[in-house]
Amino acid sequence: MTHYPGLGAEAAGILQSFWLKDAAVQRVLEGFSENTISNFHLPYGIAPNFLINDRIYAVPMVIEESSVVAAAASAAKFWLDRGGFRTQVLGTVKLGQLHFSWSGNADQLRALFPLLEQRLRADTAHLTRNMESRGGGILGIELVDLTDLEPELYQLRARFETCDSMGANFINTVLEEFGNILQAFLSTHPGIPSADRQVAVIMAILSNYTPECLVRAEVKCPVTALDNVCQEMDGATFAAKFQKAVRIARIDPYRATTHNKGIYNGVDAVVLATGNDFRAVEACGHTFAARDGQYRSLSDCRVANGEFHFWLDLPIALGTVGGLTSLHPLAGLSLAILGHPSAAELMQVIAATGLAQNFAALRSLVTTGIQKGHMKMHLLNILQHIGASEQEARLAVDHFRDQVVSFSGVRDFVLDLRAKFPTA
Ligand code: MEV
Repeated sequence: MTHYPGLGAEAAGILQSFWLKDAAVQRVLEGFSENTISNFHLPYGIAPNFLINDRIYAVPMVIEESSVVAAAASAAKFWLDRGGFRTQVLGTVKLGQLHFSWSGNADQLRALFPLLEQRLRADTAHLTRNMESRGGGILGIELVDLTDLEPELYQLRARFETCDSMGANFINTVLEEFGNILQAFLSTHPGIPSADRQVAVIMAILSNYTPECLVRAEVKCPVTALDNVCQEMDGATFAAKFQKAVRIARIDPYRATTHNKGIYNGVDAVVLATGNDFRAVEACGHTFAARDGQYRSLSDCRVANGEFHFWLDLPIALGTVGGLTSLHPLAGLSLAILGHPSAAELMQVIAATGLAQNFAALRSLVTTGIQKGHMKMHLLNILQHIGASEQEARLAVDHFRDQVVSFSGVRDFVLDLRAKFPTA
């Protein structure tokens, strides 16, 4: 047995109990990271009934937070009866940067740039050929002069199309080659004075900020179709309150952060389930949310001429081939459940899930409040934790319908039941 320093046999047993029985699959999982000592499980659920562009999807979600999948499923069902989600990919451009320092004349560099660009494209043709045959490759290269912010600092900012792959390896490989080509170009071009022949390549890396890799998801319905959202208010009152809630998140960064967190409850869960990089997706979205200098809500809402319109613009760079998507058995299964989507189709499913999640959160917030649903889940978790029987749980759910749920309150209620009805 492996010895885990500082841990007793009991801890080692717990770690081992989460290893997969299938040693080959276990090895695959371990290969994703380093120093792996066990697997950390998270719930894998399905939110059914997502009607997106007239097609029904069952959306796989990996998330540890209670109520998220239920909320997504409930919002999906709500919009299923009102025409579903419309989505549209507005762009699929990915970006990368080669950062470098150069002491020469900026105008001269600018003048030579068309020739340099030709060289960059020609000398990376062996790396881009395959991607080009799939319809992708380098879309453009720009010289960015940052010398007014930092002496001698420039970058080559390149735009890429990577089709159904996330494209990180492709982009980084091309960018590193750009570094070699740039060095060779500046050190040998006859127009460059010998004092300026040295270029210092600082780093070559894709940018996770991809504002042109953008998808829009939206829902629309007559305000009257919102009449039955809650008993206490009609559709017009609900729509106005909902719109105000979105407006608050557009103008107040404190609320915007929580509002967008709710969107990412849905987005991250699908990104994870499909083996994509949720840190990249979140980092990009938060930068996009602050693109005009203030952090704002990613979604927006308009109520006009008797129509409710709610939409989300989400920058999201991901892949459906390569990487974890083809290595993790459950990522592969998620893609199968979604009908083997292209990257563009998956962007749309994820944006619709994010919008659904945001709709569900705001619907609760402006009607019953969020705690009602959360407390029900909290109550069930407490009941499970204290080992309540089915009958005890039923009585507790009934009792706490209009009571504040706390651990001690639930425990005392169940202990009371057991004292009163010892055989129950
Ligand atoms: C909780 O995980 C997410 C919410 O806070 C989102 C929101 O407030 O909009 C409910």
